[in-house]
Amino acid sequence: MKHLLKLLDLSEKEIIEILDLADELKAENKKGITHHRLAGKTLGLIFEKSSTRTRVSFEVGMYQLGGYPLFLSSRDLQLGRGESIADTARVLSRYVDGIMIRTFEQEKVEQLAEYGSIPIINGLTDFCHPCQVLADLQTIREYKGGFAGKKLVYIGDGNNMANSLIVGGLKVGMSVAVACPKGYEPDAKVLEFAKDKDFLLTDDIYEAAKDADAIYTDVWASMGQEGEAEERKKIFKSYCVTSELMKVAKPDCIVLHCLPAHKGEEITEEVFEAHVNEIMDEAENRLHAQKAVMVKVMEK
Ligand code: CP
Ligand code: NVA
Repeated sequence: MKHLLKLLDLSEKEIIEILDLADELKAENKKGITHHRLAGKTLGLIFEKSSTRTRVSFEVGMYQLGGYPLFLSSRDLQLGRGESIADTARVLSRYVDGIMIRTFEQEKVEQLAEYGSIPIINGLTDFCHPCQVLADLQTIREYKGGFAGKKLVYIGDGNNMANSLIVGGLKVGMSVAVACPKGYEPDAKVLEFAKDKDFLLTDDIYEAAKDADAIYTDVWASMGQEGEAEERKKIFKSYCVTSELMKVAKPDCIVLHCLPAHKGEEITEEVFEAHVNEIMDEAENRLHAQKAVMVKVMEK
């Protein structure tokens, strides 16, 4: 695996190999063992949007692997003043051993990979969030023991999370159901990928959530959509994970959220707190899953 640009590029085998390595690294981490598998390597972290989990888990993960993370805010980089992605990619390739980028357009991530000569990791775009979904799959496997016969449900906006969960969930063999309001469906490329698979798209949250093993939700307005937030509050009003909705899921259904959460909007405080352990395990798994990704693309 050369890069992690989007889950559509990965085979089921590659995804499972990352999850297995993430479990191995997590077990070592719990025992206080660290192997400096990326000793002497540097990873540039370019952020054009805010981040808590992604930034901290990449920085800590790189440190634990013996490497060095460089935080590069687009506010400070010449990229923020209009230097091209192509030149940024070619220059940074002469200094660092890998780049993680969080940005708006998926094309920018693909361009970095095209012009650079080092591994590129997608730390979120408007199209997808593959690192998050690898941690989510790791969490689902921990709680459910496997993927076969399990139903993953997503409630809310057909955004980057929805796109990645559909692809990741279907690739590992889960049944996936998504409920979004009309006009806010997932990306057409993702729907094309899902069309001949075990996939349901509806605008009815109860239909989607029926017999769920895992229910996932995310904010109604993503980073970059702040101007639409008020309008979206009206449109998404009923797209909320409530105790009422949980009743149609399996009794042992887990609840996941990539965070940050807007409690009282996409999820009630009550459901969030009832499932907070799962959600925090999921957040922790960002560290382990990302270390696995860094090892896969950067270890020689
Ligand atoms: N889930 C996630 O990516 O969180 P951050 O935006 O805090 O990185
Ligand atoms: N859909 C959210 C995910 C944040 C991790 C956003 O893009 O802002």
